[in-house]
Amino acid sequence: MIIQPRTRGFICLTAHPDGALQAVKNQIEYVKSKGKIKNGPKKVLVIGASTGFGLSSRIAAAFGSDAATIGVFFEKPASEGKMGTAGWYNSAAFEKEAHAAGLCAKSINGDAFSDDIKKQTIDLIKKDLGQVDLVVYSLASPRRTHPKTGVAYASVLKPIGQPFTNKTVDFHTGVVSDITINPVENDEDIANTIAVMGGEDWKFWIEDLKAAGVLAEGVKTVAYSYIGPELTFPIYRNGTIGQAKNDLEATVPVLNELLKDLHGVSYVSVNKALVTQSSSAIPVVPLYISLLYKVMKAKGTHEGTIEQMQRLFADRLYTENGDVALDSEGRIRIDDWEMAEDVQAEVAKYWDKVTTETLAEISDIDGYRKEFFNLFGFELEGVDYEKDTDENVKVPSIE
Ligand code: NAD
Ligand code: NA
Repeated sequence: MIIQPRTRGFICLTAHPDGALQAVKNQIEYVKSKGKIKNGPKKVLVIGASTGFGLSSRIAAAFGSDAATIGVFFEKPASEGKMGTAGWYNSAAFEKEAHAAGLCAKSINGDAFSDDIKKQTIDLIKKDLGQVDLVVYSLASPRRTHPKTGVAYASVLKPIGQPFTNKTVDFHTGVVSDITINPVENDEDIANTIAVMGGEDWKFWIEDLKAAGVLAEGVKTVAYSYIGPELTFPIYRNGTIGQAKNDLEATVPVLNELLKDLHGVSYVSVNKALVTQSSSAIPVVPLYISLLYKVMKAKGTHEGTIEQMQRLFADRLYTENGDVALDSEGRIRIDDWEMAEDVQAEVAKYWDKVTTETLAEISDIDGYRKEFFNLFGFELEGVDYEKDTDENVKVPSIE
């Protein structure tokens, strides 16, 4: 079929398999251009491996360090004339390229929060890899069914305490307007968000993997967090999602204790704000990102998910002398270039000036829009979108 983008709000309902393949190939080329990661990971489990930071982590491990990878994700293949999801096509593309390069790559599609998917993953590790030496935890989800109690939690993106009013942009129309987001009405919204995006499931994974004996001596595990500028604090770091990130970060010492006898270590890496399916759903943040992109591109310090993950592996997690640089709170910071004083000062200056009228000139809204469509395999150079394409692409390792 001929596949065109079809959007509803910040969601794209369609995805293009050939475009996804091109996007994955572009990421692979970038990683190869940086050379091999010395002392990098060899057997890697990526939880949330199909899009965003997780996909780029998988590509950086495989093509930067010749790692065998198992990817876990929650995506849909095509069925009855409906196309598959972007993450499905990304994973099909990744496996195709990995296998062509002689790399072991297997995938599991299902709910990573469930005990069943954890068990399936452990069985697959036992069968194919024996043990893993790196576990990347990169889930982003609006809901989680608790595996022990069956309770279904839904996360919310709200401020805490008082309403938050700031500018936001509709990146399809370029209209900048004020938005007011009311705070949570009760602590339950906070607890629910922590239950979905906090550290409990990461802990469950590491506990189960350890109990099954599939974590290698010296194993590392890393999960991703965000801080960002003061102007997004009320909706992000000091909001409900920020409470979940605090919980995720507080899980690090718990996991370090758990991994002690294996001489294993856990980390949270604070990553840069980037266009992903998850971040486009947060109010205010897309306008910040479009100003940030403009400033960082002008300075030559802009990075996408693959540049971030390649740098995380090569310059943070797997350094030549084994040292891992941490901030005063014990976190890895690869948001360092985003948070640089000169960058933030310029973004703040533009933030005051940005309106519907000035948006095109002072922000990189075009870059934002293009990256958004790129996430779904659209608007990539070298792809013939007029050509009939087969939507029934399979992920080779999935029946
Ligand atoms: P994303 O939406 O691109 O990726 C989410 C991944 O989780 C996908 O692979 C999806 O299939 C998987 N997933 C979701 N629910 C699942 C489930 N129930 N079972 C199995 N897999 C499931 O998101 P992202 O932006 O790459 O986010 C990954 C992490 O990085 C999150 O912790 C996020 O907070 C963090 N982060 C994001 C940004 C940003 O700007 N995007 C910045 C810093 C940190
Ligand atoms: Na991800």
